[in-house]
Amino acid sequence: MSTLNVIILAAGMGKRMQSSQPKVLHALAGIPLLSHVIRTARSLFPKKICIVIGHGGEKIKQAIAGDDLIWVMQEQQLGTGHAVMQAQPHLDTVGLTLILYGDVPLVNADTLKNLINISSQEHCALLTATMEDPSGYGRILRNSDTNTIVRIIEQKDANDEQSRICEINTGIMAIPNRHLHSWLSKIDNQNAQKEYYLTDIVEIAVDQGIAVKSGQPADFWEIMGVNDKSQLAELERIYQKEKARTLLNRGTTLMDPARIDIRGELICGSDVSIDINCIFEGIVNLGDGVNVGAHSVLKNVTVAAGTSIAPYSYIEDAQIGQSCKIGPFSRIRPGTVLLNDVHIGNFVEVKNSHIGIGSKANHLTYIGDSDVGERVNIGAGTITCNYDGANKHRTVIENDVFIGSDTQLIAPVRVSKGATIGAGSTITRDTPQDTLTLSRVKQVSIAGWKRPIKTKK
Ligand code: UD1
Ligand code: MG
Repeated sequence: MSTLNVIILAAGMGKRMQSSQPKVLHALAGIPLLSHVIRTARSLFPKKICIVIGHGGEKIKQAIAGDDLIWVMQEQQLGTGHAVMQAQPHLDTVGLTLILYGDVPLVNADTLKNLINISSQEHCALLTATMEDPSGYGRILRNSDTNTIVRIIEQKDANDEQSRICEINTGIMAIPNRHLHSWLSKIDNQNAQKEYYLTDIVEIAVDQGIAVKSGQPADFWEIMGVNDKSQLAELERIYQKEKARTLLNRGTTLMDPARIDIRGELICGSDVSIDINCIFEGIVNLGDGVNVGAHSVLKNVTVAAGTSIAPYSYIEDAQIGQSCKIGPFSRIRPGTVLLNDVHIGNFVEVKNSHIGIGSKANHLTYIGDSDVGERVNIGAGTITCNYDGANKHRTVIENDVFIGSDTQLIAPVRVSKGATIGAGSTITRDTPQDTLTLSRVKQVSIAGWKRPIKTKK
């Protein structure tokens, strides 16, 4: 493609969000509104992306990374035309400039490609839409004979007849750079709002005999902007519904497509089933036949085929093997790798640990900073005491070990292969292989012992 410049307008205050955060930093599907727009812009491989910032500009710059981004400060918000003028020194003299809004997060790359094609480096191309209730938007004025676009009139400048027009300006447009620079110099602020309207370039173009064409979005929500928390919530639901629809179309079973939240990317194999109210964050990969139980949260997790995650499990930055059984109520924390056929049951927490094939910890256990071998059974209430108050130490449990219930393993410590640890033991030194080790007080029964009795006052 020839030279493409993108300008993202993001200087507005966003007062109606009722927040100290700049509007474009509010999250949709877990990432800032502006990041959605930047991601879509990048997918068009532009030569430059200029972002016009004003209110909260420094916060925005800090929150959003990218060496490819050109930040332009608009100290005073004197209108969309004025905003584009601030970016002007960065724009090329050939090719196209595409105008996007930082608070219109869901515009689709295909819609933009279509608009770029319509403009074909020659014409202005506006993304327009027809609305039942066009109030608030700029209206598209067309010549009644030729139906060609002649002007955009802002709501506040429109007469009654113009106000009845239902075709509106979405604000997204493609402008040939060859003309943009001279057109911008002709914009003034003689209008109801005393603003420099970018939309005035339409009339200027038509005067010069440059055609102004239009394209439409494939879906209505692509052009929806966020001005308040209600609109943000509405767009979030639309976004989630679309994500759910894509999953259903690819054959994933969702017990209720209205009750799933994807804040990142969820990649599913065949015959994956997801129960209600699950949240997926970052990149989550679910292999063939994986089941995710209700109310589970998975963040940056890979789950291999055939694994079942029972309800209320929380799994973060972990890799889970095939045919594992997780949950209900399991917590798997960063740095955990579970190989195939591992069972992690209720109220078991695993952190920064590697667990070998076929090993089980089914009840009430903490496994932290541990290397657990194959076919190990870890009894209920086992705790790896990995922290001495200053440093973390590792626990090594070799193949075929049996750890009795309510055992504390004081790290650093190694339980050698085939060893059995008697229930209720506190293990402070390495234990020999294929041997029973216990550290329990011997059971005694004291004849004649009486419980203390409460004395009456
Ligand atoms: C603008 C359009 C209008 C269109 C509507 C679509 C103009 C004159 N009007 O109206 O035709 O129907 O968008 O929503 O262009 N911004 C800046 N700097 C400024 C002013 C605005 O960066 O000085 C940014 C805002 O942050 C926002 C976008 O530009 O992202 C649009 O600004 P907004 O004030 O919402 O535009 P409208 O007046 O509603
Ligand atoms: Mg305005």
